[in-house]
Amino acid sequence: MHERRPTTPTTDPGPADTSLAAPGRIATRPAEPGAGDARPARRRPARLSFVALGLAALAIALISISTYAQGTLRELAADDAGLASAYADEPALVQGALYVHIAASAFALVAGLPQLSARLRRRAPRGHRVLGRAYLVAVGVGAASSLVILPANSAGFVGVFGFGTLAFLWVGSGTRALLAIRRGDVASHEAWMLRTYALTFAAVTLRTWTGVLIAVQLPGAGPDPDAEALFMHAYAAVPFLCWLPNVVVAEWLIRRRGLPAYRLSASPTPRRTARQDATVGLVVPVAARHA
Ligand code: HEM
Repeated sequence: MHERRPTTPTTDPGPADTSLAAPGRIATRPAEPGAGDARPARRRPARLSFVALGLAALAIALISISTYAQGTLRELAADDAGLASAYADEPALVQGALYVHIAASAFALVAGLPQLSARLRRRAPRGHRVLGRAYLVAVGVGAASSLVILPANSAGFVGVFGFGTLAFLWVGSGTRALLAIRRGDVASHEAWMLRTYALTFAAVTLRTWTGVLIAVQLPGAGPDPDAEALFMHAYAAVPFLCWLPNVVVAEWLIRRRGLPAYRLSASPTPRRTARQDATVGLVVPVAARHA
């Protein structure tokens, strides 16, 4: 499995974006297509989506924290708040890990989105670095604590696999993002950060999917629906559904932005010689494509 670098930009890449590269390092990321130019009409829908995603992330982070800050897990379980009933009788280690998970993950959810804005990166590169480090620490803590609560998760066996895979991919993509920027590869860093945040956003899509899957059962649930059964049926799907489509969307965005895309293959692509590249009209150096 390896990354594939685009050979031809889909649009004029504009000037190189050097806002992220550490002093003395090479910025390999071309600037956002259209960055700093006069194309406001084209960018408005993107900005609106960005604001909508931000509001959704903020809402879920606040709801998560406020739900679990209102009482002990036992009290919350009695009120049927959140998923407290699954943790009310768990050992202190698991309960503590749940609180750590909620705090760290909620922070990551809020802190991660502004990191993806090229405009904010350009305006405050230092802030981007500081917040980026805090975001990656939060991802690490959120993922590690999620592994502690995993055996108690409400989706059982499916949850262990679905949420467990999500936790490993979350840390893995964050680590790749960090390694990429350490070697000055801004394009790969941005791609991996997009993937990481798509996984972080699972907190929002999980709640959205749960609501949608409960709603689609309602027409056939009769006049007095069993709320617990509706929830359990819906929740059985979300350990995977909450992040798999996000990854696909992230990969689509990565390709659209002309960033190094991800490709699943059994063996690395055979390296082409410079002469073969010339034959098919590619101008990207072979070493750069396979870095
Ligand atoms: C992306 C990686 C994440 C993983 C692997 C993960 C994993 C888990 C797991 C296994 C549970 C237990 C769920 C259950 O009992 O069924 C849980 C619960 C929870 N997680 Fe996460 N989580 C992640 C991200 C987040 C984020 C970004 C937030 C941000 C708010 C968050 C907030 C919560 C909350 C509030 C709970 C308690 C259950 C509830 O009321 O929904 N998680 N998480």
